[in-house]
Amino acid sequence: MTSSPIAPGSRLASRLGFSDRVFVGPAARRVARAIEDGLERVENGLAEDVRVADPLADATSRYLYEAGGKRIRPVLTLLAAQLGEGNTDAVIDVAKALEMTHLGSLYHDDVMDGADRRRGVPAAHAVWGNSIAILTGDILFSRASQLMSRHGDRAIRLQADTFERLVLGQMHETIGVQPGDEPIQFYIQVLADKTGSLIAAATQAGVIFSNAPTEYEEPMRVYGEKIGVAFQLLDDVIDLSAKPEDTGKVPGTDLRAGVPTMPYLLLKAEPDAASRDLAARIDEGVALIADGADPAILDEPLTELRDHAVTQKTLELALAWTQDAIHALDPLPRGTVRDALTRFAETLAERSS
Ligand code: IPE
Ligand code: IPE
Ligand code: MG
Ligand code: MG
Repeated sequence: MTSSPIAPGSRLASRLGFSDRVFVGPAARRVARAIEDGLERVENGLAEDVRVADPLADATSRYLYEAGGKRIRPVLTLLAAQLGEGNTDAVIDVAKALEMTHLGSLYHDDVMDGADRRRGVPAAHAVWGNSIAILTGDILFSRASQLMSRHGDRAIRLQADTFERLVLGQMHETIGVQPGDEPIQFYIQVLADKTGSLIAAATQAGVIFSNAPTEYEEPMRVYGEKIGVAFQLLDDVIDLSAKPEDTGKVPGTDLRAGVPTMPYLLLKAEPDAASRDLAARIDEGVALIADGADPAILDEPLTELRDHAVTQKTLELALAWTQDAIHALDPLPRGTVRDALTRFAETLAERSS
């Protein structure tokens, strides 16, 4: 036995918020160790892969990577890979590439959302301006493609298809609901496209690039997509309730910028006078902010929205998507990997930052 004070299983467990119970027994400890080792390879590799010879591009590309992040997507790729041959070189590269795609999308997203803070630091556009932030995102997308290109058509295709879907999700969110669209259904589709697509690619890639049985690919893709939707719905709740010191973001950023979230959409569908009045005050505040008013004018209405039943309903919806994600795992063999994926989904649903 090793005398290490912290077993790899418990380090991973605490990182992911798993109970240690998931990694009990020799087989489970092997899985935990593999994921720890894989994450270390991903982390060391990313630290190198975000470096650019140009000094300004180097500073801007490393900026948000070094600021933090939960690394949810690489953890999922690595977990899925344990259904096959484990941490192959391709699994590590693809995990890095998808995390780098995520990273690039954050630079762009903060420009689009006018968000001031990300990962506890000023957003990149707040430091260097919009053009540099957008170009930095583009560099990271290029780097992600370079990594994927090492692993053939399948990898390139996965990256390209996923990125197109992510971008269309962002575009549909930007354009907003069109005549004939059902607002809530439209919104769920946006979440599935902008976030579910990349998480689905992460879980699917773990199966493909570890040479796991092909019949696991679709269940893992569906699982990833559904936890992506649950994750975003929860993001809407956290956005209203969380403290900035926990999330590293400014509460209510999207709503203040006029980007609707699920609690707001559900509020708009409520027929009672108090809900209609609250929705009208939020709309009025958004219009004033667009004209240059202080975003703090929405503090009070957003607190009321947080305490309204529609925010609880959003939470329940997130839990329903989590349960659907867990059901998607039914075709997988029982064992540590499936248990860990189940626990991972439950843990995401309990997150508060
Ligand atoms: C934030 O994703 C952007 C969304 C898709 C909601 P994460 O919450 O995974 O961000 P980091 O990587 O931990 O910062
Ligand atoms: C981010 O969505 C989605 C992508 C970056 C593709 P949000 O705009 O809802 O996420 P946060 O709240 O800024 O992290
Ligand atoms: Mg945003
Ligand atoms: Mg956004």
